[in-house]
Amino acid sequence: MSWIWLACAPVDPPSEADSTPHVDIPGHNECLPPGERYDDEVCVAVVEDQGRVATESRLKAPAQASADDPRLTDPEFLWMTGEVDRCVCRCCHTAGLGGAGVHAWDLSFEPVWVDSASDWSLRVFGGYTEEYEQTLPTDDLDRLRAWLDGEWARRDALEG
Ligand code: HEC
Repeated sequence: MSWIWLACAPVDPPSEADSTPHVDIPGHNECLPPGERYDDEVCVAVVEDQGRVATESRLKAPAQASADDPRLTDPEFLWMTGEVDRCVCRCCHTAGLGGAGVHAWDLSFEPVWVDSASDWSLRVFGGYTEEYEQTLPTDDLDRLRAWLDGEWARRDALEG
């Protein structure tokens, strides 16, 4: 099964042949400045370039959150979400854009997107594993990890 993990790794060199001619395909780990995000058009090109079948997300947290979940207004959660949203990661991890990564975590999973990520995926996200290409390319890994610690504690408490 090890091929599965490689699939998220960058394709090099990016294939010119099957990409839309007018769209420059950003690299797997590229990000824009805070507050910006890649256009859906660019994202769809990223997804098409990878050429894998779209998937679906599902709940992987211990319980379904409510629409007024406190995380949704927590500045640290919002910061972390912004860090993901400004990177090319968003492209393959947003249902509706057709990406194959949505089954691992999905930015449009509601009400709290991170509930679509397993504990393991969150470990990968925080750079605690050897799947380096799937670490969130944030400038502030400590801040991300502090948020992750809180999320794991929250999940543990839910599991009882
Ligand atoms: C070209 C599409 C694509 C892009 C871009 C992409 N991913 Fe993924 N990602 C996937 C796919 C597909 C999977 C599911 C695993 C697999 O089949 O390879 C995945 C899985 C993951 C996982 C779960 C791994 C696990 O073992 O549970 C993490 C975490 C992840 N990606 C992080 C990222 C981060 C961070 C970025 C941006 C730096 C990113 N991905 C960009 C396609 C992508």
